[in-house]
Amino acid sequence: MNGFHRMSDRDFKKLKEFIEAGPGIKISAGKRTMLESRLHSRIKKLNFKNFREYLKFVFEYDTDGRERFKMIDAITTNKTEFFRESYQFRFLLETVLPVLMAEYGTGIKRPLNAWSAGCSTGEETYSLAISLSEFAEKHSGFRFSILGTDISVGALHGAVRAVYPEESISIIPLHIQKKYFLKSKDRINRLVRVKPSLRSKTFFKVLNLNNRHYNMPGKMDVVFFRNVVIYFRRSKQIELLSRICNSMTDGGYLFMGHAEALINMKLPLHRTGLNVYRYSPEEQRRV
Ligand SMILES: C[S@@+](CC[C@H](N)C(=O)[O-])C[C@H]1O[C@@H](n2cnc3c(N)ncnc32)[C@H](O)[C@@H]1O
Repeated sequence: MNGFHRMSDRDFKKLKEFIEAGPGIKISAGKRTMLESRLHSRIKKLNFKNFREYLKFVFEYDTDGRERFKMIDAITTNKTEFFRESYQFRFLLETVLPVLMAEYGTGIKRPLNAWSAGCSTGEETYSLAISLSEFAEKHSGFRFSILGTDISVGALHGAVRAVYPEESISIIPLHIQKKYFLKSKDRINRLVRVKPSLRSKTFFKVLNLNNRHYNMPGKMDVVFFRNVVIYFRRSKQIELLSRICNSMTDGGYLFMGHAEALINMKLPLHRTGLNVYRYSPEEQRRV
């Protein structure tokens, strides 16, 4: 067994119920081994003999909820990268921002609000911050703020720290790297950190998108909600997306991941680019 812990059917059922009611992520029977392996390190670290003991602790004795957060960190998939699906950032700069500015004066009459929902360790949020900063340089008076939210506290710690391996920014042109990142002096561990001037444009918050009533600091003009809904059942996807729509300004733009086309969902959105949708509550065309 190599000390590897297996879950009983009862434990799996309990864990599945907790995950589906909390984060809301879909747990199929095929995910059992994945869960066992991801939670193995927690069991080892806390010196529990098996899953039964670990889950008993989490559900009955974890009074401050700390271990629940660790458990959520372990079960969420946080894979992300800078300028992932870069064509969408081009679309943002070339189409979305000029349209919002022309139609509503967004960014000029008031700051543009952007939201990276399910931001993981922050790469998407900072890619947005770089794009909007570059746009602001060319359009005098353009102002913006960016919110990054995630359910994983561990991932958000990474986002706030904003330290990344140097190779993770290789997709970014050198002059932009120099403008927005500091390089560590340690040439063995080769790390970069987002400069404070760019970090100050962003703020991060823990937010469970499966929570029926979450509070947003304001309506969002641009929402990046990419590579998150794939982890949810279709009915839950619609629920999550409806709530996101309620948090958007009329005419706001929603960016989805490449495998997340919204089809027959009866949402007040219409497709306007490659996995990009526009929120129009009054519109007849609905995805
Ligand atoms: C694969 S990452 C996507 C990161 C980024 N959006 C991107 O496309 O590169 C999915 C993120 O969704 C987050 N997530 C999963 N369930 C969530 C929930 N119920 N509420 C908020 N975030 C959630 C995970 O913690 C994870 O960081």
